[in-house]
Amino acid sequence: MGNINASVDLRRDGRIAIVTTDNPPVNALKHEVRAGLAEALGQVRDDDDVEAVVIACAGRTFFAGADITEFGRPPQAPSLGEFIAAIETMPKPVVAALHGTALGGGFELALACHFRVAAAGARVGLPEVRLGLLPGAGGTQRLPRLVGPEKALKMIVTGEPIGAVEALADGVVDEIAAGDLTGSAIAFARRVVADRRPLRRVRDRDDKLVAEGFADAAAALTRRLRGREAPAACVEAVRNAMILPFDEGLKRESELFQKLVAGDQSKAQRHVFFAEREAAKVPGIPMGTKPRALANGAVIGAGTMGGGIAMCFANAGIPVTLIETSNDLLQKGLDRIAANYRATVARGGLAGDEMDRRLGQITGAVGIDAVGDADVVIEAVFEEMALKKRVFADLDRVAKPGALLATNTSTLDVDEIAGSTSRPQDVVGTHFFSPANVMRLLEIVRGAKSGPDAVVTALTLARLLGKVPAVVGVCYGFVGNRMLARRSVEAERLLLEGASPQEVESAHVEFGLPMGPFAMMDLAGLDVGWLIRKSRGEHAVIEDALCEAGHFGQKTGIGYFRYQAGSRAAIPDPEVERIILDTAARLGVTRRKIGPEEIIERTVFPMINEGARILEDGIATRPGDIDVIWVYGYGWPVWRGGPMYYADRLGLPHLRDRLTFYAERSGDQSLRPAALISRLAAENRGFATF
Ligand SMILES: NC(=O)c1ccc[n+]([C@@H]2O[C@H](COP(=O)([O-])OP(=O)(O)OC[C@H]3O[C@@H](n4cnc5c(N)ncnc54)[C@H](O)[C@@H]3O)[C@@H](O)[C@H]2O)c1
Repeated sequence: MGNINASVDLRRDGRIAIVTTDNPPVNALKHEVRAGLAEALGQVRDDDDVEAVVIACAGRTFFAGADITEFGRPPQAPSLGEFIAAIETMPKPVVAALHGTALGGGFELALACHFRVAAAGARVGLPEVRLGLLPGAGGTQRLPRLVGPEKALKMIVTGEPIGAVEALADGVVDEIAAGDLTGSAIAFARRVVADRRPLRRVRDRDDKLVAEGFADAAAALTRRLRGREAPAACVEAVRNAMILPFDEGLKRESELFQKLVAGDQSKAQRHVFFAEREAAKVPGIPMGTKPRALANGAVIGAGTMGGGIAMCFANAGIPVTLIETSNDLLQKGLDRIAANYRATVARGGLAGDEMDRRLGQITGAVGIDAVGDADVVIEAVFEEMALKKRVFADLDRVAKPGALLATNTSTLDVDEIAGSTSRPQDVVGTHFFSPANVMRLLEIVRGAKSGPDAVVTALTLARLLGKVPAVVGVCYGFVGNRMLARRSVEAERLLLEGASPQEVESAHVEFGLPMGPFAMMDLAGLDVGWLIRKSRGEHAVIEDALCEAGHFGQKTGIGYFRYQAGSRAAIPDPEVERIILDTAARLGVTRRKIGPEEIIERTVFPMINEGARILEDGIATRPGDIDVIWVYGYGWPVWRGGPMYYADRLGLPHLRDRLTFYAERSGDQSLRPAALISRLAAENRGFATF
């Protein structure tokens, strides 16, 4: 009894043994924990004074999963699977006491216990698919036996956890604790002993293994997961639960896991997982810098972005004032927000009373004085420097001292905007992505004078709003849009040289992006870029011609594609084809057939090249930050790990050679490989070693 090791403690309450793990922050099942648990279980197994065992965790959660850093390394005994088997075969009742998030290996461990008692706020789930894996410690065999294959598959393929109430209804947990969790679990164990309840081993159950509806459910769940190996493996493993004996199903699960863990897709997804965590670490911030208060917010401008940003606050339960220049415009903005929420309710994504609660967090107002005592103000007015400077000069006058003043500009110089205030230390960029209430990325733009605590406050805000932050420096377009601009130039060239918009589109969709460059421009509106180009004296021959012909994208029903009313389906447009052919003829370009491989090389490689320059300029701190930006802001396929990771997989010498080839063929010197690429390629290194 007492401490088994630094992480595991064994104590007794009467004839009930309680094994408690304390491995902050999330009780990951690292080797020391597994070894301690195995030792503790060994002791109680042979102790005649112990009648039942409770497995519990200290801190904020039950085991939230395996230790990911051990993935792909030789396993150290006891493996999680071995330890879990030891729990299941215990000759006395084992009760799991679940609180916080019992996820992945933690939930698999709980599934092998004979009973499960949960705190009211507990959540359980198997999110391995998000790392390109399947649950590899029996989850695909035990969960179907407990909840049926269809429900199990849904949980395993989506990775979405369920709450305690749903888990109770599904038979995943046996009881929800009314008060103290460990106390309830001990009382539960005592009742099991007193009632001489038989040990219910999940592995022996088959009453819920019904195949009906499984094939349809599998097809529906994987339809949109094109190109991904893990979901298909999840389906195979859960199907095995129905057709193979338990031990064979377990063996096959383990083989599938080993294959996925060694595969490219999971490696890429694990890279993104770690890159996301790294991105929140910002160099040059003194240790212990505290965020400022973030109890309420204000958003200036109730347009597309301002409305979405206000929804982010409301969704997070933070009261927000949405400010416009007139009652009409304000009402329009508020109506759009309400319609947006109503659509979610209609789709079943939100309860009606929750919508009301969220709408109740948003207060509309006219005039900037309404920022009042807001802790954070986010400006989302038109993309015009003079206007933004006026708004910030006004904010300087009316915002309370110490308020975080943030601009949602997508291209403008944050330092110049900050210069219109007397408190540039309070100013940052918070660049949301459209639709702001959906897209996870938040580019936090750190100005030359942004205070460390302002940056930390912006990072905290991102977390509160459920966003994934990446801190970037000031330059035109910051990281994401600066790279995107390179792609746009090449996409237009591809059209001139012979590709059709739909060929470019399908090459990108095939690559794994949710849409290609032209569908994306149609969604954002072609007029936006046209205005910016005009103000900068720049041209895009085909896009300019389209704009002159009123092709502004989905908003006008015509852009690079044609759209039927109420539909977002992109239909090829003969008029666009004609504009492309006319422009090519006018410029004397001889058109030729261009295959998907060249299309991807020519749009993606120049973006990576720009990413390298962004690193050279110090605008992004790490290649992984750029990957995070592309995965969460632009839908880059997570199983390809982000553009910089993708470049490393291809090898930088290859990238250097192809960029050189395209630069020489086109005469466009900006396509020449960045110095960083040439240097790393010469040293046979990748961005990962940057
Ligand atoms: N649309 C996008 O995809 C996107 C993405 C990221 C960032 N941005 C940036 O977000 C900002 C807003 O873009 P948007 O697409 O929402 O534009 P929008 O035209 O939809 O909305 C701008 C709103 O600001 C209001 N406004 C103008 N001056 C104001 C003032 N002085 N006080 C209060 N309200 C004022 C306008 O009435 C309008 O409703 C721009 O800086 C843009 O570059 C846009």
